Amino acid sequence: MINVLLVAVDPQLADRVSALREHRVVAIDRDNAAEMARINKSGPVFNPDVILIGADVSVDQAIGYAATVMAEHPAITVFLVAEPSRKLNRRAAKAGIQGVVPPSIGDQELAGLIRAGVPDSVRTPHQVVVVASPKGGVGKTTTAVNLAAIFAETSPRKVVLIDLDLQFGDVASMLDIEPEHSITDAFAADGIDSMLVRSMLAVHPAGFYVLAGSPAPADNAAVSGDQIRKLISQLSASFPYVVIDTSAGLLEETLSSLEEATDLVLVAALDIATLRSVRKEIDVLDDLELLPAARHVVLNKSDRRSGLSVRDAENLLGLPVHAVVPFSENVALAANHGELAVAKRKRSTVRTSFEMLARRVSDSSVEQNSY
Ligand SMILES: Nc1ncnc2c1ncn2[C@@H]1O[C@H](COP(=O)(O)OP(=O)(O)O)[C@@H](O)[C@H]1O
Ligand SMILES: [Mg+2]
Repeated sequence: MINVLLVAVDPQLADRVSALREHRVVAIDRDNAAEMARINKSGPVFNPDVILIGADVSVDQAIGYAATVMAEHPAITVFLVAEPSRKLNRRAAKAGIQGVVPPSIGDQELAGLIRAGVPDSVRTPHQVVVVASPKGGVGKTTTAVNLAAIFAETSPRKVVLIDLDLQFGDVASMLDIEPEHSITDAFAADGIDSMLVRSMLAVHPAGFYVLAGSPAPADNAAVSGDQIRKLISQLSASFPYVVIDTSAGLLEETLSSLEEATDLVLVAALDIATLRSVRKEIDVLDDLELLPAARHVVLNKSDRRSGLSVRDAENLLGLPVHAVVPFSENVALAANHGELAVAKRKRSTVRTSFEMLARRVSDSSVEQNSY
């Protein structure tokens, strides 16, 4: 017998939970929600194993209740019933909430969730890594593609790379794949059924998925920030790693993607103009409150002949550089042949640098989860 406490859960969902077998269900409404902690402490009367907090209280309240309960009873599993979004999932995870459950969750999944804890589909949080830079040609696409490939080595089929350079996206070209669908089709499927969106993905032989850019620069002119956020949050519900390649500068779509991001990878090169622009970009994003918790700085095409050192770059950026990728003809050659610069058989400093970056990005998720 599992004791389930429903707090301010809408009647329809409450009925569905009550219909489950082998459960004892107690529901309290919004007006009594403040008493939840008290009810919870009166163990002999009703000692819940699982608590679902519904949409009928504000998210702040719900998170507050969850924190109170968990401080006393860490063994209780708490779920939040709400439309998942990257931001909400992260906040919920920090409060110790096991998952954010959409109200439309299927009966079977609901039963599984209550019985066994957390199914993959509501597990928090997955990583959304945005690769950006104020400048073109510095290696954003190179970084995004190689990062996705390295993630896929340890997490095959769990990585999706989105080409969010909406005008001149060249991920597919760099990977030499010819996808049947592009991101434009995914926006058009604006229903948006996540199965349908997943059917738009191409598979790269290295084991990751690609949502390719559109072949026609004007195709995505009318795409809204909402559509972009929705697309990303849908894909991140299915994939633990979402890597997003962007165009140069701070276009609307890049800003929208940052609202969903857990990680920002900033790509700089060893020239003063680029380094200063990167610094400005960080300041602007900070002002807009769009800097994700985890930030990683890559110095690409590093070359002694530039006359600048990594230390100079760090001074100009006012930030540490986390990965230095050397200038290497092999990178350009690989791109021109539709190959990965980090292809496994090739041990190289380029590969080592991208591996370091990938490890740092992965580790940042563990750190974020731990508080
Ligand atoms: N470390 C590197 N060494 C040599 N060439 C590089 C390196 N990184 C990127 N390139 C080349 O520079 C060009 C621009 O890179 P790209 O990743 O497309 O930049 P962005 O996406 O920022 O415009 C490509 O031809 C790419 O192959
Ligand atoms: Mg690019």
